[in-house]
Amino acid sequence: MRLKDKVAIITGAANGIGLAAALRFAEEGAKVVLADYDVATGALQEKELTDKGFIVKFIQVDVANRTSVDALVQQTLDQFGQIHILVNNAGITRDAMLTKMSAEDFSRVLDVNLTGVFNCTQAVVPYLIEQGYGKIINTSSVSGVYGNVGQTNYAASKAAVVGMTKTWAKELGRKNINVNAVSPGFTKTSMVAKMPEKIIDQMKSVIGLQRLAEPKDIANAYLFLASDESSYVHGHVLQVDGGIMM
Ligand code: CAA
Ligand code: NAI
Repeated sequence: MRLKDKVAIITGAANGIGLAAALRFAEEGAKVVLADYDVATGALQEKELTDKGFIVKFIQVDVANRTSVDALVQQTLDQFGQIHILVNNAGITRDAMLTKMSAEDFSRVLDVNLTGVFNCTQAVVPYLIEQGYGKIINTSSVSGVYGNVGQTNYAASKAAVVGMTKTWAKELGRKNINVNAVSPGFTKTSMVAKMPEKIIDQMKSVIGLQRLAEPKDIANAYLFLASDESSYVHGHVLQVDGGIMM
């Protein structure tokens, strides 16, 4: 078991990639906190995973709200006593062309995808420093690395996640805390389901493997970075995008 007795908080774990990661981490022996805004699905997934014999706990959080994040960390410690792994996976899109993007949509995406990652990491890091061990995995995107039509807000947030990852690698390496990011390509979740069919086809044609990712493809990359198999991987952005040429 690659994560035996490790405690992991995965944000955005009620759905999509985060849920696939919760299952993979639990299969490898971790105790997993499903941290998500979506109470109905989160509670359902907690039950499904618990019924399968895994140790998981759903805790509602809005990562954009610092008070809510502090409560998440406290409830995790109350439940499991420790935290070893934080996966900053929660994210949203509010796509529009630059000329049509509202200030509200610009801000909300930054609040969740950028400030949310800052909030969760700043709240968890003191505990990782104290125990002299930790793994932080941030979720960027091909949109943050290459840019993408209709995603001014989202691409900015995901590029910023790369900057924070590299900065935290410099600050936290000496505390034995690995900090890395995954940059997923287009993955079969509700996020991509919202895209126009024509644009999905256009994207598939520029992916080397000629297919979208399954959530498990990305979850396996999180697992590698959360495990001690990646002890000497630090400040890295792992592109898991099927060889896309955007
Ligand atoms: N490449 C090139 N041109 C594009 C384009 C693209 N990917 N997408 C749109 N355009 C062009 C259109 O052809 C159109 O051109 P004309 O004005 O010459 O006709 C112009 O841009 C405007 O497009 P729309 O008519 O579609 O404009 P709209 O205002 O109705 O919608 C939009 C704009 C909301 C951005 C819509 O095009 C859209 O949803 N696009 C998909 C955006 C996208 O890729 N999102 C990724 C979501 S998944 C995700 O975010 C996960 C991740 O990390 C990758
Ligand atoms: P999803 O929409 O299926 O799941 C996102 C989860 O985040 C949902 O459960 C949602 O309730 C939760 N969430 C949203 N706002 C929240 C908030 N404020 N606080 C707490 N939880 C919140 O999306 P998906 O595809 O699983 O995305 C996961 C991550 O991967 C996101 O960061 C996304 O930007 C990133 N990503 C996704 C890609 C894709 O093609 N699906 C490609 C590249 C990156």
